[in-house]
Amino acid sequence: MSDAGERIEAIRREWGDRLLILGHHYQRAAVLAHADALGDSLELARLAAQQKKAERIVFCGVHFMAESADILSGPEQTVYMPETAAGCPMADMATAELMQGGWDRLNGVCDGWRPVVYVNSTARIKALCGRHGGSTCTSSNARRVFEWALNAGQRIFFLPDEHLGRNTAAAMGIPDREVALYNPACADGGVSDDEIRRARVIVWKGFCLVHTAFTINQIKAVRAAQPDATIIVHPETPREAAELADAQGSTSEIIEFVKAAPAGSTVVVGTEQHLVERLAAEQAGRVTVKCLKPSICANMAKTNEQNLLRLLEEWPAASQIHVAPAVANEARRALEQMLEL
Ligand code: 13P
Ligand code: SF4
Repeated sequence: MSDAGERIEAIRREWGDRLLILGHHYQRAAVLAHADALGDSLELARLAAQQKKAERIVFCGVHFMAESADILSGPEQTVYMPETAAGCPMADMATAELMQGGWDRLNGVCDGWRPVVYVNSTARIKALCGRHGGSTCTSSNARRVFEWALNAGQRIFFLPDEHLGRNTAAAMGIPDREVALYNPACADGGVSDDEIRRARVIVWKGFCLVHTAFTINQIKAVRAAQPDATIIVHPETPREAAELADAQGSTSEIIEFVKAAPAGSTVVVGTEQHLVERLAAEQAGRVTVKCLKPSICANMAKTNEQNLLRLLEEWPAASQIHVAPAVANEARRALEQMLEL
């Protein structure tokens, strides 16, 4: 273990249960080696809500995840990030002002809208979602949350990921003509009144650069070169490519899929590279795991052993993630609605 790694472990021993280090699956292996728990964004949100013993929670992930941990943890607990500049560009594609503009546009045409907000969003977006009676979702439970809204006779305003929205609607058998795109860069959202009236789901024009890197051509090339390989992609992948893959799965579903793959098989994975490389190392000699295309989340990669150690040694106030109570209270409603489903 590196010198920094040894010092991190010594601090963890000293703090014991009072310190909880959470690591998202897309983190570097060297960081995850120090985590008390690994998970996808849903599992880590649940842990932050349940783990009341820890005085300090260190979130190795991106900013929106640490915000959710702060919102769901107790008032005595404080949440920190080793690198607070680790954001999520997709989360930043929806601001509260733009979302309110979209909400007003849809409600100006017809009634019955319910916001469903991907957790990859800022606390202010989650707060607006809570205020309007909506729920957050992750890629693991998007379908369940869509069903909750649609079964209540509501229409869904989904943001900020167009592709997770389209893939979820398609998996539920919702016809394309009942799904419309809202483009916040256009004054009227780039959507006609007729399209709004016809829609059961309206998706926001936002995307993840890491997952929009996966294409139809890459899938065809894998099929030509390795016809026996199975291809699975994360649902943030654009729909045309996602539909061509053998399977789609959230981060945890991808992990389960690889673990369940028969010995001797090859699985080609379209998601963040650090996770695929870790799965390849874990499965070495049993299943061959490859990247559909190497694609790194540069923000997830900002956390490393050095900034984790610095946080644990110095606890700088600027590394604390604190969501203002007025925002947190409304955002919590949307997060708790998801956790109840
Ligand atoms: P999960 O919800 O699968 O953890 O994904 C988080 C994420 O940021 C995917 O890009
Ligand atoms: Fe955001 Fe994409 Fe990185 Fe996930 S992989 S944190 S959606 S930029």
